[in-house]
Amino acid sequence: MCGIVGYIGTKQAYPILIKGLKRLEYRGYDSAGVAMISAGGDLNVYKAKGKVDNLIEYCGDKDVSGSIGIAHTRWATHGEPSARNAHPHYSRSHNLAIIHNGIIENYADIKTKLQANGIEFRSDTDTEVLVQLVEYIMVKKNLSLLESVQVALHQVVGAYAIAIVDKRDPCQIIAARKQSPLVVGIGENEFFLGSDASPIIDYTDKVVYLEDGNIAVIRLGEELKVISVLGEEQDLKVKTVDIDLGQIEKGGYKHFMLKEIFEQPECLKNCMRGRINVEGNHVTLSAMIDYHRQLLSAKRIVIVACGTSWHAGLIGKQLIESLCRIPCEVEYASEFRYRNPVVMKDDVVIAISQSGETADTLAAIHLAKEQGAFIYGICNAIGASIPRATDTGTYIHVGPEIGVASTKAFTGQVTVLSMLALCLAAERNTIPPELYQQIVKELTLIPGKMEQALKTNGQIENLAPIFTYARNCLYLGRGYNYPLALEGALKLKEISYIHAEGYPAAEMKHGPIALIDSEMPVFVIATRDRLYEKVISNIQEVRARGGRVTALVTEGDTQIQKFADHIITLPDTLECFQPLIASIPLQLLAYHIAVCKGKDVDRPRNLAKSVTVE
Ligand code: G6P
Repeated sequence: MCGIVGYIGTKQAYPILIKGLKRLEYRGYDSAGVAMISAGGDLNVYKAKGKVDNLIEYCGDKDVSGSIGIAHTRWATHGEPSARNAHPHYSRSHNLAIIHNGIIENYADIKTKLQANGIEFRSDTDTEVLVQLVEYIMVKKNLSLLESVQVALHQVVGAYAIAIVDKRDPCQIIAARKQSPLVVGIGENEFFLGSDASPIIDYTDKVVYLEDGNIAVIRLGEELKVISVLGEEQDLKVKTVDIDLGQIEKGGYKHFMLKEIFEQPECLKNCMRGRINVEGNHVTLSAMIDYHRQLLSAKRIVIVACGTSWHAGLIGKQLIESLCRIPCEVEYASEFRYRNPVVMKDDVVIAISQSGETADTLAAIHLAKEQGAFIYGICNAIGASIPRATDTGTYIHVGPEIGVASTKAFTGQVTVLSMLALCLAAERNTIPPELYQQIVKELTLIPGKMEQALKTNGQIENLAPIFTYARNCLYLGRGYNYPLALEGALKLKEISYIHAEGYPAAEMKHGPIALIDSEMPVFVIATRDRLYEKVISNIQEVRARGGRVTALVTEGDTQIQKFADHIITLPDTLECFQPLIASIPLQLLAYHIAVCKGKDVDRPRNLAKSVTVE
């Protein structure tokens, strides 16, 4: 997500800030900016869309002097990626500048109130609302910057890590955090700030990790002071960082893929935040409000996507058909674009893409658009080509995915498809209100159940060496779990280079069963649902041919252990959400097998994260 860097001391801030921003590049971002207070007392803010190099180029002929500054890399959440929406943001008077990570959930209410008081906004961000609010309080109540930040933070709901400077006081940075990490580095008569320690470790190993709800008062020539929002002084817990850069970037995990697997509960909360109400019984998607007529008049939905996104689409098809009773087809974008498909005016085409840049998906969108379809995008990368080419859409908001094998984007896509299907079902009255509420409630419980599923990590790590010998593997599932079998097999192929196939369990007897012998690991998703008994029969068919079965089962299951060599137990959920839970052990299985085989998990051979060529 976004990155924060700050410096106050006796050196020039700009080179330190730029080096820090480069250190944070691994997080992914769409724009960057810096603010320095010059010796003459000017607060200079410079911002550029795209890479940090663009910012450096932009700053080439500017006054970048000053020994206090803040800098930011932005991953857009509110407002398109642009220099205008990039941070830092000035306050109205240009006396203050702020950088911010996180989301201010009640920004719209605050903005309306500030606008009513004559404050004009220059960006579409929630961040600018915060800096304008701080200044508004400062002026109205005649308070100091620190006091105004305290009052403002009482009024905001959401997550934040912020740093704010005032050009009238060039010896101070105020920083605060809630749910978004922030680290202060302590040097010799200088301080550093970072959203993690990576921009700091070149200069000092002494750091303070701010705790939730705390504010750091960073003043040159004084000791660092940490206080609570209520103003109570906190004990300073100075730590020594002795971890290397690679470790910090990966949050202590060995690989980005593992980090991203473990991030999923948090990602899904972000994905649902502001869309499912606090009571957990109602879903609202802004696309549904803005394009109500177009979405409700859909006679048919066509999903186009590639790779993992296509698998999410297959789950989406089942959700849409069973909850909304709208016919739904899922197409490989690369096939759709070249096969002269029938596209009708009342079709809604849903394009799913993590990167938002996949060339085939983009071409499929253009084709469907030319033929009059309404296009809805489900993407992760804000402001990428696909969200720009669609009529409307919903971002999955799971943060940058760095590992080439997609994990958190998949579950984010399935979550958005679930929310979309629920919105459509409610509007079309295709499911009873009680069932609607039950499904929405269950969706809000999924992050907690994912946490439970992540506890299988140790068991799976121990199992992994058993499978490294395999040259082929089979993944079986039925209903909602069939696309997951495809996804589980794809994960294994991508990173361990073991050939794997996903199959609908019952279809196995029409071919793949011929391959089964004691050398062929078979992974069966056998969670409790309508087809449970039938899947047990399929497991028996495998066993009868000497196949080695590892089954994913629901907690409390007593039957399958009789037929399986290994069982992995998962929390119970509704049938339609089983892929969200069961994807976790399948991702972990692929991960640990690949690690055992010594493969480059985050950068598998021949694959690319963003496929911008056809
Ligand atoms: C590549 C990636 C996959 C991804 C697919 C579609 O093959 O390696 O992980 O699923 O592209 O990408 P998209 O960004 O459109 O979801």
